[in-house]
Amino acid sequence: NQKKYILAIESSCDDTSAAVLCNKTVLSNVVANQEIHKQYGGVVPELASRAHQQNIVPVVHQALVKANIDKKQLSAIAFTKGPGLLGSLLVGTSFAKSLALGLNIPLIQVNHMQAHILAHFIEDPEQKAPPFPFLAMTISGGHTQIVLVKDYFDMTVLGETLDDAVGEAFDKSAKLLGLPYPGGPLIDKYAKEGNPHAFEFPKPKVDGLNFSFSGLKTSILYFIQRNVQKNPDFIQENLADICASIQHTIIAILMQKLKAAVKETGIKHIAIGGGVAANSGIRGKLKQMETDKGWTTYIPKFSYCTDNAGMIGIVGYLKYLGNEFAEQDVAAQARYHI
Ligand code: KG4
Ligand code: ZN
Repeated sequence: NQKKYILAIESSCDDTSAAVLCNKTVLSNVVANQEIHKQYGGVVPELASRAHQQNIVPVVHQALVKANIDKKQLSAIAFTKGPGLLGSLLVGTSFAKSLALGLNIPLIQVNHMQAHILAHFIEDPEQKAPPFPFLAMTISGGHTQIVLVKDYFDMTVLGETLDDAVGEAFDKSAKLLGLPYPGGPLIDKYAKEGNPHAFEFPKPKVDGLNFSFSGLKTSILYFIQRNVQKNPDFIQENLADICASIQHTIIAILMQKLKAAVKETGIKHIAIGGGVAANSGIRGKLKQMETDKGWTTYIPKFSYCTDNAGMIGIVGYLKYLGNEFAEQDVAAQARYHI
């Protein structure tokens, strides 16, 4: 059982991250968040690329220092090829290629969506890996997918969003309520004190296991406009109830499709990932399904749920074992399917 050290780099959206793994164990996982986007109420792609450019060298340096590993000990470099913002992906991809070339070690390309799922296989006392086959639901600011996972690299997307991601639904709703970006965690916080049945929002009718969240955003906009016209203090006076009702609706949309996926496949091992997995309402609902329906649910440690290089590293290690290396002419890819 030889020790392999993998350096992993993630730059698909607005977090610059680098990690060092020793086999399946994360030695360091450094993430530089980009504060710059807050004032714009969302990620500005051009600014994200520039911030990656500034952050990448210090972040990689820190990851190596924290892991107490010298560059010369590295076995390979894994990087996010896609999907994501092209300008952001280019920074991590180019850096990984250059470093691999300089160190004369192999390069490993990683699909970001596979990484969110395979994050469950990082060896850590705070999480356990699901057995194959399992269903994965990846929910974040950029993604909403239900995936059938038969093996590490045998995945089929059963359903995904046709418009906004679920995190966007949280963030855009929060914006309409005058809450700062990203508003998802704030909706979660206020929802705890509110009545989830205070207000009713329509759920979209979407075929199969796909999702749609753009209609919800529109109906919340009209709901707020209508009520604020009658009472200018409507939002302040009802914030907890509004947040609880919005969160309830979003969770109902997710759970409806997840239940349908369980019914369709007969698989009751459910692995959740992505930043929205932090939502306490979703966590509570999943726990309830364990008792009510005999599901076994898996949620990675929070730092492996949000965008991070640790999850890129575990994919890197698994691919390293299979000698799946990329050539030096490999390119970043904004649209890149599992
Ligand atoms: O995975 P992530 O950090 O980045 C992306 O890949 O998008 O996810 C960020 C998303 C944001 O939309 C944020 O509002 C949402 O996750 N989020 C939450 C909560 N914590 C983070 N949404 C609802 N409840 C939370 N507690
Ligand atoms: Zn992500």
